[in-house]
Amino acid sequence: MVPARGGERAQGGARALRAGLRGLPRGRPRRAASPGAPVHRPRRGTHAARVGQDRPHRPPSGRDARAARLQDGAGAARRRRPLPRRPAAPDPVLHPRRRPHLPGDADGGGVPRLRGRRPPGRPGPGPGAVRFLPRAPARPGGRDREGRLRAGAHRLRVVRLQGRLRARAPPEAPPTDQDRRPAHPGRAQAEGRDVTFVPVDQDARERARREHGTSFVLEAGAGTGKTTLLVDRIEQIVRTGAARLDEIAAVTFTENAATTMKLRLRERLERARADLARPPEERRRAEAALEVLERAQVSTIHALCSAILGERPLECGVPPGFRVADDAEMDILFAEAWDEWLTERLVAGDATLMGAVDSGIPLEADGWGERSSLRGLARTLVDQRDLRPLVAESRVDPTAWRRDLEAQAARARALLPQVRDGDALGANLGALVSFAEDAARLEGEALATYLRTLPIIRRSFGHKAHWSTPEALEAGRAVAAWTSQAAAAWKAASSAALHSRLVKSVLEVVARYEERKKEHGVLDFLDLLVKARDALKQSEAVRRYFNERFRFVIIDEFQDTDPLQVEVAELLTGGRPGALVVVGDAKQSIYRFRRAEVALFRRISTAAADRPGHSVLHLTQNFRSRAAILRFVNRAFASLITASDESGQPPYEAIAPPPGLREDPSVIALRFEAPFADGEDLLRAEARALAAFLAGVAAGGYEVRDPQTGGDRPSRAGDVMVLARRLTQMRPLEEALESAGLRFTIEGGKSFFDRQEVHEVLAVLRALDDPSDRVSLVAALRSSFCGVSDRDIVAYALSGGTLWIQERGARPWPSSAPCTACARRCPYPPSSSASTTRRASWPR
Ligand SMILES: Nc1ncnc2c1ncn2[C@@H]1O[C@H](COP(=O)(O)OP(=O)(O)OP(=O)(O)O)[C@@H](O)[C@H]1O
Ligand SMILES: [Mg+2]
Repeated sequence: MVPARGGERAQGGARALRAGLRGLPRGRPRRAASPGAPVHRPRRGTHAARVGQDRPHRPPSGRDARAARLQDGAGAARRRRPLPRRPAAPDPVLHPRRRPHLPGDADGGGVPRLRGRRPPGRPGPGPGAVRFLPRAPARPGGRDREGRLRAGAHRLRVVRLQGRLRARAPPEAPPTDQDRRPAHPGRAQAEGRDVTFVPVDQDARERARREHGTSFVLEAGAGTGKTTLLVDRIEQIVRTGAARLDEIAAVTFTENAATTMKLRLRERLERARADLARPPEERRRAEAALEVLERAQVSTIHALCSAILGERPLECGVPPGFRVADDAEMDILFAEAWDEWLTERLVAGDATLMGAVDSGIPLEADGWGERSSLRGLARTLVDQRDLRPLVAESRVDPTAWRRDLEAQAARARALLPQVRDGDALGANLGALVSFAEDAARLEGEALATYLRTLPIIRRSFGHKAHWSTPEALEAGRAVAAWTSQAAAAWKAASSAALHSRLVKSVLEVVARYEERKKEHGVLDFLDLLVKARDALKQSEAVRRYFNERFRFVIIDEFQDTDPLQVEVAELLTGGRPGALVVVGDAKQSIYRFRRAEVALFRRISTAAADRPGHSVLHLTQNFRSRAAILRFVNRAFASLITASDESGQPPYEAIAPPPGLREDPSVIALRFEAPFADGEDLLRAEARALAAFLAGVAAGGYEVRDPQTGGDRPSRAGDVMVLARRLTQMRPLEEALESAGLRFTIEGGKSFFDRQEVHEVLAVLRALDDPSDRVSLVAALRSSFCGVSDRDIVAYALSGGTLWIQERGARPWPSSAPCTACARRCPYPPSSSASTTRRASWPR
């Protein structure tokens, strides 16, 4: 029964109905509407990356995945063809048995050592010379014998660094060949760098820097200095007066990358300004550029589009002073639009919606399941509303189906006298005749629904002896075969028709979402691109204005650009020679699931090759890695990456290592014994082996070049970075590193908010925020911030103490109160106030 439309009752009724349809009773709508609330919907959609996000997302597997490409992960590559067996790498490998006795290593080992890891002529460490890093200072606390947290115990050890925060400034970028500084040859030599080397692709680099009248597509591998070259070109353009800095738009993939690019540009401009050997006007131009650098259009494509809209809002059709909704706000607006639409449709008993339910399509679902629910469809339509949904117009004509049915039923009826009672085929043909007679009494949707239940007759039915002639039996079997064909065809037609009706119906959610955005005066990330593209496309005046406004457009990480972004870039530059430079590496394309198309990069590159004033350049000189690493990469990927027109994958192009770097071991196969281990056990065994190896590195088992001094020194823990394939599998590694006594920080751990220390911090904050929240107060007292034992808390509560944070000036807690114990044990000094309130002071 459907409750009456409108009002609370209707809402409640609809909710109950929805809950029933979902099979999960729910009291209130599913989605948490607070921006701070965790959103469990997996990030997806066209522009989920948006401004400011970094690039660690992985393409999804499953139905969205297309032809496997190497960058989709090892699994895809493996599926394509088995990895050929190769002879062992010439690099040294670990020999776990030959391990030295290290201080603190009771059983005399545990740390695998590298064979030949020291350069010849360099003295080995010797038993007394093994340098250890000072161990982490003993933690002020820990657990006592009874297993309670000792006072002052603090176990905060995981730091999630902000993308832009680093403990130390990054080492100064090595000089480009263009800027080779003879003033510092000593340092360069100390770094093991051949200061006089000329990159193998020098000509291409020079063209990209200096030919400002040619547009370039730069294809280059990792670490070949693509981004550096873009900075070089911008600096050249500005310094030579080809354009002012505010006439250039540089597009990066993330806000972090934009900040880095600005920093590099600042460095370059400051150097130009201070270079007395340069003509005064060049230095003046560098000075002028430095003044506007912070306002320069070095940003993500979304921020560039936002700037375009903000500069000409009325012509672009956006409200002046518009605001950009972030993901959380967009989620809320979508949730409101969806809830409203669904409620209305359920209350009205909408036939299309009921058809979806009858077909087993879930209305809503959590997590990954949402993708295949109706809500997921609505979300996709919102995320991709710049595209017209491709829906086949498919109408179901049940009367035509009935005509076919009647024809077959007539054949069946004619056959019935030729079969004996008890034959399975005969009985089923009789049932088909009755089915057709019932169908004659129905019309419209009821007829269609009924016909979809057509009984399928198996062709194997029917016994020769029961039929008058073999021909009659064959004729009966032909009718049986028709039933299975007709049922499949009708089902397919019904599904297609339902799909087209559903898409049309769900498009209403998109309209409601648009309305809501208008009401709030906000644009979402897709709007920025679509509206900027439309304005540039439709308005000659806008296009001319921005063609002059941005005389040069430069795009980094072009392999991850989607067609809409390319359209914006092309409209912005109008195809003028020299106006557009894009750089990318097809091998690094990872955002296909956000419509980034590496094939697009190929297309642009092919088009540029034949266009006057355009050119394609290839860079192969790497500046980042040692020869041993690049040898390994070239050898592995030359056979793994194969050109594919279908996925736009170009063939592998070998990267040339920078000359003059030491030939130390760089790629090491870590071998460990884990017979019969799999799953978690294997992960743990691998983690233990890695931790043992890293303990050796931390103990100074390697010679490394110190980026600060330029000299060699024994390795230490801070020299190591571990990249994990999945953050969800980090736990075993964390445990192994902890057991090995190694300190570490984790960046970007997904389970960050599930961690003990984060729970503790939250408990303390909650207790301070809401003094009546006794659950949080007890959790805060038990946490490592306060270290109060359960026994103390219970004793205190039994003695009549109140568990309540009191305001300043209120009656102090009794001296035996746990708060005093807490104050004594707390690792952080209490505030100067004598008050017992808000005692847990914060670490600084
Ligand atoms: N011409 C050059 N001479 C010396 N060092 C260079 C040169 N160009 C780049 N480098 C150095 O090489 C490293 C990689 O440079 P950059 O980040 O520009 O490469 P990229 O190709 O953009 O890398 P990615 O593929 O990761 O985007 C940096 O440390 C940079 O300072
Ligand atoms: Mg780069």
